[in-house]
Amino acid sequence: MPRTVAPRTSRTPRQSRGNGAKSQPRAPERASRAPAAPKLYATKNDLPEKARVEVIGLLNQRLAEAIDLQTQCKQAHWNVKGPAFIALHKLFDDVNEDVEEYVDLIAERVVQLGGIAEGTVGAVEERSTLPDYPLALSNGGEHVAALSDALATFGRTMRIGIEEMNELEDAGSADTLTEISRGVDKWLWFVEAHQQS
Ligand SMILES: [Fe+2]
Repeated sequence: MPRTVAPRTSRTPRQSRGNGAKSQPRAPERASRAPAAPKLYATKNDLPEKARVEVIGLLNQRLAEAIDLQTQCKQAHWNVKGPAFIALHKLFDDVNEDVEEYVDLIAERVVQLGGIAEGTVGAVEERSTLPDYPLALSNGGEHVAALSDALATFGRTMRIGIEEMNELEDAGSADTLTEISRGVDKWLWFVEAHQQS
């Protein structure tokens, strides 16, 4: 059984992110939606069904984190201030563009395996293990510290994900996560370099 990624923070789903409003029950109209699609679509892909089910579950967890990371890049891009504004504003958007591709790679891998890519805000809120991005940051150093934390945590989840995919003998998913891992390591370097001298 592949190991799972333990949350890096003490945050438990739907507890520490909001101001309390999110702890309210969901609006009743959600229950009246059309029945959920099957959890696993038939496919001629010859990976064993049992492995595909596990891979899909794990990749949907990684998808939540990738979407979370993307929102954090934009949060930094929009709000950074200070003498290094233009460099960091552009850098954070460059990171965001690549992370958007990571989101797509993971989501489409899920679908290729017969699964449903679960990329809603609600799914992200429940599943992401990334630390919350502080909303009140302004100067470049604070954003560099926060975004490098997020990139490092995400990089760790990718490395664990690679091991999990290898254990499930899904070389394609392991390769996808390896590509993402390589990319995020590069962006961690770019961001972290602002703290180093
Ligand atoms: Fe922009």
